[in-house]
Amino acid sequence: MTSVDAMVAALPKVSLHCHLIGSVAPATVLDLAAKHGVRLGRTAEELYDHGSYEDLGEFLRVLDVVGSLIRDADDFHRVAYESLTDGGAAHGVLYREIQLSPPGHPGVPYPTLLEGVLAGVRDAEADSDIRANLVVGICRERSGAEAVDLVETVAAHRKGTDGERVLGIGLDYAEVKGPPGLFVEAFRLAARHGLQRTAHSESGPPAHVLTLLDELGCSRVDHGYHVVDDPDITTRCVAEQVPFVCTPVSSDIGRYSGSGDGTHRRIAEMVDAGLRVCIDSDDPPMFGTDPSHDFRVLAQALGYRRDQLAAFTLNAVDACWLDDSEKAALRARVEALVAVTPDVPSAPSPEEGPR
Ligand code: ADE
Ligand code: ZN
Repeated sequence: MTSVDAMVAALPKVSLHCHLIGSVAPATVLDLAAKHGVRLGRTAEELYDHGSYEDLGEFLRVLDVVGSLIRDADDFHRVAYESLTDGGAAHGVLYREIQLSPPGHPGVPYPTLLEGVLAGVRDAEADSDIRANLVVGICRERSGAEAVDLVETVAAHRKGTDGERVLGIGLDYAEVKGPPGLFVEAFRLAARHGLQRTAHSESGPPAHVLTLLDELGCSRVDHGYHVVDDPDITTRCVAEQVPFVCTPVSSDIGRYSGSGDGTHRRIAEMVDAGLRVCIDSDDPPMFGTDPSHDFRVLAQALGYRRDQLAAFTLNAVDACWLDDSEKAALRARVEALVAVTPDVPSAPSPEEGPR
């Protein structure tokens, strides 16, 4: 194990941008297909062909195939459990707010999805050190009216056993097909129901970040790389310390965070501008990554050492939707683990230090 590997493995992580459907391990995809009598006609490796996801449409088509295989409460239990244990705790993730996509499972009643996921969360918490809550993603390729209906459904099921674990909503799928302004009503309704809000902005213009903050009332932004193309918006986001939850590997493949050559140019610019950046893995097995690997690529490409990487995790503690006392406890756990995380002896490239 190299010193970078040892550092990223030991580093505590807080995961705020990870999709349940995108977390399904290849072997589980095959098991679910066999269970439901679905002929995939492709090996798991062919299905998870990371390079082809440079085209978001191709990625979302595969996501739909995987989502359609997760059908009953046992399936949701399994994929949630595996995402949190093998895909989370095993990589030092202490806390995850996992994003569900109800429209990605056609024909599945929301209570079935929720019941299965909550059972998986409870079992993962019992069997490992991870803790988790839920975010329900609105599919921006559907209408604003459908989004309003989904928010009503989410709010109606927040009571009962662990229902309050749904802390907020997100906005995902293809930004070109659903600009954020179409979802103002759904997001305002969510606010009235006491739900927190986040939304993806990966391919859209910097002005979408303003829509997220001012019209959707988001307390954080998923991706948001194009913010650095607008100095005024960047200045405002620095002043307000808006959290941006970036996903290096998936966004490099999609060419959202740079030129797709592993330079992670926009993430570096965001950090250098003083923005509050957090790091996560988006759809880890689908993009051939995991929570440690996303930190590893930044250490290797940008020369980030332990304290900068730890700053990303501490930013995620601030950005998460736990209450203040839970956040303080999480922060204490993170700080204690960072203190025993080995640093690399020197940075491969000049670095100004943590923010
Ligand atoms: N899952 C759903 N929408 C996504 C997106 N736009 N990027 C990555 N993963 C997603
Ligand atoms: Zn995402």
